[in-house]
Amino acid sequence: MNIVLTGFMASGKTTVAKILGGLCGFEVIDTDKYIEDGEGMTVNAIFDKYGELYFRTLERAAIEKVSKLDNKIIATGGGAVTDPDNISRLRENGIIFNLSPDFEVIEKRIEEAAKTRPLMRGQSIDKIRERFISRQKFYDDCDYKINIGADDVPERTAMIIMEKFKQKVNF
Ligand code: S3P
Repeated sequence: MNIVLTGFMASGKTTVAKILGGLCGFEVIDTDKYIEDGEGMTVNAIFDKYGELYFRTLERAAIEKVSKLDNKIIATGGGAVTDPDNISRLRENGIIFNLSPDFEVIEKRIEEAAKTRPLMRGQSIDKIRERFISRQKFYDDCDYKINIGADDVPERTAMIIMEKFKQKVNF
């Protein structure tokens, strides 16, 4: 069984995934990184050169592949959940955790996060908040939702996920 992490951009999936990897020994696969390695281009460059739809096709193919693996921690891009096929594939062999930060957590990270995220780059805070809100219905469909407040550390999030995963799969 895989541990799958979903969540809005800059919700801390990559950091939590690394900590989880240390806790349970599973290899971490970050789908954005997987796509970047496959294309030899950054996500920013893929969006610039080919557009979002093309990126979504790559994301879908990446998820189709990695969801067939076992005992991995799969950190997905923030928009992966918007394609129901991605979720059903990931669910076949994984427990899907949603990192659910309060918007103020994201807000504090925007300046740094926008450097590598085309959907944050040059966007107003209102637009980012709009996208954050419109994504919630997809995140609500995950198996577990972990709320993250402004004072929470990623180690806590990782521990909660680990405990829930252990209970669920008898790990
Ligand atoms: C996206 C999130 C990004 C990346 C791409 C699109 C999104 O991943 O997949 O820029 O639509 O929310 P992170 O969630 O890791 O930033």
